[in-house]
Amino acid sequence: MRPHLHRLHVESSGTPPSRGAVTKSGGAWSQLWWRPSLPATHFWAHCTGMLCSVFVMVWVLRFRGGLPFIAHIPSLADRTDLIFNAHPVLMVVGYIFLSTEAILVHRGMHGTKSNKKAIHFTIQGVAFWMAALGIWTALLFHKTIGISNFYSLHSWFGILTVFLFGIQWICSYMIYWYPGASAKTRAAVLPWHTSIGLLVHCTALLTAEMGLLEKLTFLMVNKVIGRFSFEAVFVNSVGLLLLVHGGLVILACVLPRSS
Ligand code: HEM
Ligand code: HEM
Repeated sequence: MRPHLHRLHVESSGTPPSRGAVTKSGGAWSQLWWRPSLPATHFWAHCTGMLCSVFVMVWVLRFRGGLPFIAHIPSLADRTDLIFNAHPVLMVVGYIFLSTEAILVHRGMHGTKSNKKAIHFTIQGVAFWMAALGIWTALLFHKTIGISNFYSLHSWFGILTVFLFGIQWICSYMIYWYPGASAKTRAAVLPWHTSIGLLVHCTALLTAEMGLLEKLTFLMVNKVIGRFSFEAVFVNSVGLLLLVHGGLVILACVLPRSS
């Protein structure tokens, strides 16, 4: 009975246990990442976030001609496409991935509360500016080819998400950092901060899904790629992976920290 209880405690605590603790419970260290637990959820949330970022980079660099500053298809007729390519990269790698890492800092990192808080709000701040830059690239692309702005549901979701993210950042900074609210207010606001933070994160993922769908639809309608082409299947898979990633981040925040 005792070892079993010990293992339950180890699995539901926020930080990975020491090697000794795992051995005492009878399990191998490597098995820990396969069992449903908070450390395992964290591990897979990081992995899927990294994979999504790498896959979006591969898509843009390998299939869409590259980024404005590292284009690798000299014969590409329409170079303005390259301006657009910075948009999905900034949104997925610069915004979604960074924001996920900031959220996971609280439970997945060792250190003082104050250090974790500082890392959390700094990364969230960088993520906000990446998102703003990403939207600017989409606007610039539209301006270059003469398309009107904010006509799609994707763009409405996108602008709302980044606006809410900015408001959340400013309010949280004032409550938890400077000038800082009373301990009572901070404690009362925390469940709202966490829930609204996760909600905004979900709308960001949803917006990215819509963006992938929209871009693929444009490419298919204009007969640039086939419905079952490798690129279409690849991008659909990135969309699925983003969904799994979002689920893991939510789990990592709602699972109990200790038994
Ligand atoms: C828009 C940007 C932000 C988002 C999306 C966001 C999101 C989150 C989420 C989802 C959590 C829960 C993490 C967990 O339960 O493991 C959290 C916790 C927290 N955040 Fe933020 N956050 C943002 C900005 C900020 C800022 C600017 C501060 C100011 C210092 C801040 C301070 C905190 C604190 C103190 C916690 C609680 C940590 C704990 O429970 O120990 N956040 N945030
Ligand atoms: C959280 C992530 C994202 C946000 C907040 C976002 C936001 C936006 C915004 C605000 C626009 C409108 C620009 C304008 O009207 O001039 C836009 C355009 C666009 N985005 Fe995104 N985006 C995100 C991710 C993505 C991704 C991953 C793709 C995939 C390729 C994508 C594809 C597009 C396309 C094709 C347009 C031009 C057509 C349109 O205006 O709807 N977006 N995005």
